[in-house]
Amino acid sequence: MESTTPIVMGSDHAGYALKEFIKDYLVVSNFEVEDFGPFSEDSVDYSDYGRLVAGKVSSGDFNRGILICGTGLGMSMVANRFKNVRAALCNGLFSAIMSRRHNDSNILVLGGRVIGIELAKEIVQIWLKTPFEGGRHQKRIEKFDTIKSGPL
Ligand code: RB5
Repeated sequence: MESTTPIVMGSDHAGYALKEFIKDYLVVSNFEVEDFGPFSEDSVDYSDYGRLVAGKVSSGDFNRGILICGTGLGMSMVANRFKNVRAALCNGLFSAIMSRRHNDSNILVLGGRVIGIELAKEIVQIWLKTPFEGGRHQKRIEKFDTIKSGPL
């Protein structure tokens, strides 16, 4: 993995248990983790925690982030509003690999109510170690910044 910064993490209440599991796994595997919360299973808004984590990746303070909500959908919608963020909702291994190889994803989004903890762990492992292929894919992701929102 190219990252030298800690992996920044966040969730909502529906992703909290999986966040804790993945955080423990990463720490045991010698990765540094910065957890932006929440710190209990009390109900919170995924928009708030998605914003915290995506903002840190967007600014360049952190290279990689992991966000978890119930489905992963809300978190990915929030995170992808941030410049420089390429958040990928990956509830399977193939998506996780391809999101790195072709899209240089810098935030992995998981659905805590969609997948089990062992699959989530495998997804995180492969996502962290799969490199970006660059080349023609670099040109494609560079075009993201030229896209203006709104009707054509
Ligand atoms: C919370 O109930 C749920 O809506 C949230 O975790 C997420 O799945 C939203 O996309």
